[in-house]
Amino acid sequence: MDLLEKIERLKREKNAVILAHYYQDSEIQDVADFIGDSLELARAAQRSTADLICFAGVHFMAEGAKILNPTRRVVLPDLRAGCSLSDSCPPARFRAFKEANPDHFVISYINCSAEIKAMSDVICTSSNALKIVEKAPKDRPILFAPDRNLGRWVMEKTGREMSLWPGSCIVHETFSDRKIVELKTTNPDAKLIAHPECEESLLKLSDFIGSTSQLLKFVIESPEQTFIIATEAGILHQMRIKAPGKTLIPAPPTQNCACNECPFMKLNTLEKLADCIETGGPEVVVPESVRAGAHLALTRMLEWSN
Ligand code: 13P
Ligand code: SF4
Repeated sequence: MDLLEKIERLKREKNAVILAHYYQDSEIQDVADFIGDSLELARAAQRSTADLICFAGVHFMAEGAKILNPTRRVVLPDLRAGCSLSDSCPPARFRAFKEANPDHFVISYINCSAEIKAMSDVICTSSNALKIVEKAPKDRPILFAPDRNLGRWVMEKTGREMSLWPGSCIVHETFSDRKIVELKTTNPDAKLIAHPECEESLLKLSDFIGSTSQLLKFVIESPEQTFIIATEAGILHQMRIKAPGKTLIPAPPTQNCACNECPFMKLNTLEKLADCIETGGPEVVVPESVRAGAHLALTRMLEWSN
């Protein structure tokens, strides 16, 4: 309780705002001023007038906040909170691909570094990827990076051919199709809902596919009662709050492990959150030479998704 009171006091003293992703621990979600998917968080960061933006999420998300709102100080509770998907796209290899394929229109999923964003024509998130790809110039080949699962799903939905960067998320590739089919057999009324970062075979089994916010909305609005949820387990916290009484079954991983929890997201703790608001660090910085290009690609995404 003391820690929660301390965070509330620090927020007032430092004119700080806490933006949190759904994959954060529930106690962090409970102290956040805003919780959302990547697109909603980017918009919240862009319009924030707080002196300090404390980003309870992973590094690429906090970098996005700094790119969109460079006059604010942006802090991340633990600077090691990275992302396997972002790491699967190193800037040097990406630059080499671009140089070898200068005709390609580059669409990058927001789960990438500021350097990759700066080399992209436009960014997308899981909630607007279909819209963004549909708006891409028809006369140019597309490179979609770094998530191959999202890219493949978007290709199928839009009918647009794209070269796919071979990246993926360690959490979303962990679910077991076999165990999910077993669950559907024992719970025949359950709807399987999945994040598009999941593998193709799982997406084919799914009744609904969407971003974290879209999955939450589906559970709230659906007349169905039981859902198998194939994304990071942190989302269940808001589902329990906003859809009380519904039965929520986290999709089981292949191993008997907690692999459906993102180890990067879970590096943030309430203690680190309090410390970073108090000390104003660790700060997320983006060199202006990189920020300018990344800003162009991110603001184009925000315009195209309006
Ligand atoms: P959302 O934009 O759907 O919240 O996804 C973020 C993410 O990192 C999924 O792994
Ligand atoms: Fe990255 Fe996957 Fe974690 Fe999302 S769940 S932040 S894509 S590692």
